[in-house]
Amino acid sequence: MIGRLNHVAIAVPDLEKAASMYRSTLGAKVSDPVPEPGHGVTVVFVELPNTKIELLHPLGEASPIQAFLDKNPSGGMHHLCYEVDDILAARDKLKGEGARVLGNGEPKVGAHGKPVLFLHPKDFCGTLVELEQA
Ligand code: CO
Repeated sequence: MIGRLNHVAIAVPDLEKAASMYRSTLGAKVSDPVPEPGHGVTVVFVELPNTKIELLHPLGEASPIQAFLDKNPSGGMHHLCYEVDDILAARDKLKGEGARVLGNGEPKVGAHGKPVLFLHPKDFCGTLVELEQA
């Protein structure tokens, strides 16, 4: 059911430092910071030949990644995003198998303007999973 790995998201305490590390040390193609107030994050996109890395930094009071950084002060992998063809069909199949969908269970428009859902990390080997309808 899942398709390509769309991105790996990494929460970082210092966005400039993280972007510079990916650009200079690792030699990757790195975007300018993109504020996404609707998602409570500022994102730097790292483009790799086969996928993307998204460096996430909290934006605003109610950022969903602030609590993660409080627990992981030096940053860490926040979630993986897999592409699916039909997000509602994927959700219904997963719910039928007992997986927990976060929030109200309805897809939201994600950072790339496409519908996304998040799945409970305890149901997926301790990894927060995002599904994006590609
Ligand atoms: Co994501």
